[in-house]
Amino acid sequence: VRLLRNTCIFCSIVISAQGWTPKQPEEGELTTNCSSMSLRRVPEDLTPTTTTLDLSYNLLFQIQSSDFRSVSNLKILILCHNRIQQLDIKAFEFNKELRYLDLSHNRLKIVTCYSLPGLRHLDLSFNDFDTVPICEETGNMSHLEILGLSGAKIQKSDFQKIAHLYLNTVILGLRTLSYYEEGSLPILNTTKLHMVLPKNINFWVLLCDGIKTSKILEMTNIDDKSQFASNETQRNLRLKNAKTSILLLNEVDLLWDDLLIIFQLVWHTSVEYFQLQNVAFGGNVYLDHNSFDYSNTVMRAIKLEHVHFRIFYIPQDRVYLLFTKMDIENLTISDAQMPHMIFPNYPMRFQYLNFANNVLTDALFKKPIHLPHLKTLILKGNQLETFFLVSHFASNTSLQHLDLSQNLLQHENNENCSWPETLITMNLSSNKFPDSVFRCLPRSIQILDLNNNKIQTVPKAITHLKSLRELNVAFNFLTDLPGCSHFRSLSILNIEMNLILSPSREFFQSCREVKILNAGRNPFRCTCELRDFIQLQKNSEGMLAGWSDSYICEYPLNLKGTQLKDVHLPELSCNTALLIVIIVVMLSLGMTVAFCCLHFDLLWYIRMLSQWTQTWNRVRKTAQERLKRNVQFHAFISYSEHDSPWVKNELIPNLEKEDGSVLICLHERNFDPGKSVTENIINCIEKSYTSILVLSPNFVQSEWCHYELYFAHHNLVHENYIILILLEHIPLYCIPNRYHKLKALMEEKTCLKWPKDRRKHGLFWANLRAAINISLSETRDMCELQTFAELNEESRGSTDSLIKTDCL
Ligand SMILES: *[C@@H]1O[C@H](CO)[C@@H](O)[C@H](O)[C@H]1NC(C)=O
Ligand SMILES: *[C@@H]1O[C@H](CO)[C@@H](O)[C@H](O)[C@H]1NC(C)=O
Ligand SMILES: *[C@@H]1O[C@H](CO)[C@@H](O)[C@H](O)[C@H]1NC(C)=O
Ligand SMILES: *[C@@H]1O[C@H](CO)[C@@H](O)[C@H](O)[C@H]1NC(C)=O
Ligand SMILES: *[C@@H]1O[C@H](CO)[C@@H](O)[C@H](O)[C@H]1NC(C)=O
Ligand SMILES: *[C@@H]1O[C@H](CO)[C@@H](O)[C@H](O)[C@H]1NC(C)=O
Ligand SMILES: *[C@@H]1O[C@H](CO)[C@@H](O)[C@H](O)[C@H]1NC(C)=O
Ligand SMILES: *[C@@H]1O[C@H](CO)[C@@H](O)[C@H](O)[C@H]1NC(C)=O
Repeated sequence: VRLLRNTCIFCSIVISAQGWTPKQPEEGELTTNCSSMSLRRVPEDLTPTTTTLDLSYNLLFQIQSSDFRSVSNLKILILCHNRIQQLDIKAFEFNKELRYLDLSHNRLKIVTCYSLPGLRHLDLSFNDFDTVPICEETGNMSHLEILGLSGAKIQKSDFQKIAHLYLNTVILGLRTLSYYEEGSLPILNTTKLHMVLPKNINFWVLLCDGIKTSKILEMTNIDDKSQFASNETQRNLRLKNAKTSILLLNEVDLLWDDLLIIFQLVWHTSVEYFQLQNVAFGGNVYLDHNSFDYSNTVMRAIKLEHVHFRIFYIPQDRVYLLFTKMDIENLTISDAQMPHMIFPNYPMRFQYLNFANNVLTDALFKKPIHLPHLKTLILKGNQLETFFLVSHFASNTSLQHLDLSQNLLQHENNENCSWPETLITMNLSSNKFPDSVFRCLPRSIQILDLNNNKIQTVPKAITHLKSLRELNVAFNFLTDLPGCSHFRSLSILNIEMNLILSPSREFFQSCREVKILNAGRNPFRCTCELRDFIQLQKNSEGMLAGWSDSYICEYPLNLKGTQLKDVHLPELSCNTALLIVIIVVMLSLGMTVAFCCLHFDLLWYIRMLSQWTQTWNRVRKTAQERLKRNVQFHAFISYSEHDSPWVKNELIPNLEKEDGSVLICLHERNFDPGKSVTENIINCIEKSYTSILVLSPNFVQSEWCHYELYFAHHNLVHENYIILILLEHIPLYCIPNRYHKLKALMEEKTCLKWPKDRRKHGLFWANLRAAINISLSETRDMCELQTFAELNEESRGSTDSLIKTDCL
């Protein structure tokens, strides 16, 4: 028991929330899957709520009556591919819900019957029953739809018990068949009958009875080669009461003559659709093909798939003509290694021809073929080479769908094509078409597949394909998206896996109808040119198929592997118009600045302004220090006689403008004649806030000697209060070497240069006033100064010449 428990731990248990029964979607379904676990017994600890139990591909050999008692909700039980030898169906008496029971591929010999009225699917096929396991109870399963049976002996009496049941499908999975009572199968009432025959069994009677039984008949393993070919009596057999309209034969291996007889039999029955899959035939041919009776048939479609020709001694033409002379609606002969195909030289009624995956060549179209009703032609997977030959053939048909994919087709520019106006879809994928294929296309085309060819560009001069809706040019060598000037109605374009670096604007302008564009897996160059393209995805959600996984940058190298959606291309660096505007604005701004600099001497203004601010800062710092000093004047002005007109006409009027607010000490006005010039100067400097020296070559020559002495001997505390006005430029050679102090001052301090331009004078004065710091607020000081000024009014008259005497 422990062992068993252990094994079932590995059973996978799946709970599906929505359940698989449409009627009870709210109820959870539980699947316990113990498939392929080498189980010898049904596990004991099954989850009681299990609804689906898969025990297939195990080693079960016995079913106990108690095995499934615990799983009372069981609906589906799969026990196929085990070794069960006998079974009492009563074991499922407590599984009232059971609807699906698969016991196929076991070794059942005996089944004890019990009525399970709810059962819909019961499969007992591929077992070792001696007789078909049908009992009275089976007849009571009125819901049965699919019934699988097997048995070595098949007799009417067995089927009689279920004759009243209306079945959907009966599967007759036979391992052996030792006896078949003719007329047994037609007793069944089923829509579909599928017989899987053992090897080398006489299928003829089964085939005939099958055709009388169900609408759809499928037979697998038709391979008896010792049949009836020589039995004259069977040749012109006509079946009565035929019911089958769809006949499917799988795994057919016969002599050609036998196949021919089957065709002849089926031809005169109710069969409309006849399909043979995995066919092999060969052998000598004795029958006369010309004796095939094509009259009197309801046959509409024949399909031969996966045909293998054994060594074969008949002229191929006869085989081809056997089929083409059938002249039915649809004919398919695919995967048949067929090198050629011949049609009778009169008009045929074929509407659908499918010769896919053969080895047909251009020779197919060498002779005229008359197929005026042909609507669909599938020649996929052949060896065709010349495209215009196909077009010439097609021009005499009413072809709508043409599949020429997987051939070797090419097209030369000078070859003229002629297509019927009916052609709607064309599959030209996986060929060798170059660009010139666009010169050989029907105007009416709506869906065109040119996937996997050698197209590099869509030529400009081609006929307008006004109806083209879908174009697939994936896996080619296109370097750009084609514009839609020639395809006005294009709505789906697939251009995956080409060589597109950056799609051009023409596409976005001309292809307004396109709803789906698949341009993935191209080597995109993620530069500004790609912006429109990335924008496309943002503007029309869902237009780009495969977004975003298939859209990856290839260039530049630093972006290689990045998805396009993650690439950031800023507006400014990409929008040339905007860039130009900005450059123009910047340029004009620069030019304006340059113009101002040149015309209004802007630099000078800036320099003056900065001086002015510096001065203000300095003034603020030293204001308090100044207040401590015993001052009487705002400024002492020293100048050379030569410059006196400027001082008198410009400087003084401008400083004294605000009537008496600035008190000025002039050496010709305020000098004490009793004292030496130097003494007077020192006196003046000491009594003034600031000393203004009006520098000019004359001043340096005649006046500076007094100051040099003063500044050399005094600790230069007052240097801060010196203002140098450079009235004229002083060349260096004009300053004598001994005037060290002057040189130092001129280097250290910024001189206020007197501008020649009248417009600049305003700022000059403002600067000067700031330097003097005339904003003395303390009225007390002001009053003192005022009195002092009145006192000194009398002592006017001291002259510059007086001072000059001491010099040099
Ligand atoms: C159980 O698992 C096997 C593969 O292990 C799978 O083929 C089978 O379909 C599963 N059965 C059910 C009922 O899901
Ligand atoms: C079959 O069902 C009928 C009535 O539905 C019943 O009379 C008969 O006994 C059943 N037969 C068996 C074998 O269960
Ligand atoms: C078979 O069943 C159908 C209903 O599905 C019925 O119409 C038909 O008459 C039955 N045929 C025979 C032969 O019992
Ligand atoms: C020929 O067919 C008839 C009728 O189906 C059958 O009775 C006879 O045995 C067959 N002959 C041979 C040689 O198979
Ligand atoms: C013939 O082929 C066409 C196109 O595939 C299909 O629509 C039609 O149903 C086929 N006819 C028969 C009888 O199989
Ligand atoms: C088209 O058919 C007509 C007669 O049916 C025939 O004369 C003509 O040669 C055919 N054209 C081609 C290209 O096969
Ligand atoms: C064209 O044929 C190829 C295979 O040959 C197929 O994969 C493709 O889907 C077809 N195209 C169309 C539009 O049907
Ligand atoms: C194709 O047609 C043009 C004129 O329509 C003609 O000059 C040319 O010779 C034709 N080419 C072939 C190969 O028939």
